[in-house]
Amino acid sequence: MAGHTWDLLEGIESFEFTLRWLNELKRLVKPTGSIWLHSTYHNSGILNVACQILGLEIINEVIWFKRNAFPNLSTRRLTASHETILWVHTGNGKREYYFNYEDVKAAAFTEDSFKERGKQLRTVWDIPNNKAKEELKYGKHPTQKPVRLTERMLLISARRGGSLLVPFLGSGTEIVAGLRYQLECVGFEIDKDYFDLACQRVANEVQRQAGILPLEFEHVET
Ligand SMILES: C[S@@+](CC[C@H](N)C(=O)[O-])C[C@H]1O[C@@H](n2cnc3c(N)ncnc32)[C@H](O)[C@@H]1O
Repeated sequence: MAGHTWDLLEGIESFEFTLRWLNELKRLVKPTGSIWLHSTYHNSGILNVACQILGLEIINEVIWFKRNAFPNLSTRRLTASHETILWVHTGNGKREYYFNYEDVKAAAFTEDSFKERGKQLRTVWDIPNNKAKEELKYGKHPTQKPVRLTERMLLISARRGGSLLVPFLGSGTEIVAGLRYQLECVGFEIDKDYFDLACQRVANEVQRQAGILPLEFEHVET
């Protein structure tokens, strides 16, 4: 069972909803663009099948390894310590999507025990799930991602000056990363409180970039 109100669609209903929004992304994302899809065991199968049905080629399946995962309280399951991410493109048989191969290979990602500067990036990413103080300044979202996770995706597949569409904003993490990468950003959020939280984070980032606010780097456990 999924635990959040936005996750309550099940079975066929969930599959149909996934097909509908993914089909919209297929229509909107250019062949040079990329789609990054987050999932856990609740929906990773559905997303994978939906991509295949819609003709969206899966470039890679990435395992985001969360080394500081929260212990399992029920004691009836293993400790969930990864999420599955699909990197997908819309290119209709042609592989025109951007891959900033050299930049990614050159990157060190010092926190990541699987990545060395000058070596190819693997499909297992060791990125701690803790957030900088600034990421939690205006409140928390139950499935909030760390900004550096999206920053890595953008380093891989984005071009500065391009566009970023975030269909499920939550706390606005992806928009914050997009603004740092100089992208024009658009997002949607159905929940008013989360929308307000995302707007506050976006305003904070805009002010920070304008030199009005400093970046607070101190990390806190969540
Ligand atoms: C998994 S969370 C996104 C978390 C985000 N990545 C972050 O770091 O904060 C998904 C969000 O999508 C929102 N949502 C669900 N259905 C939606 C819909 N039809 N349109 C827009 N937002 C929706 C939920 O309210 C929830 O905040």
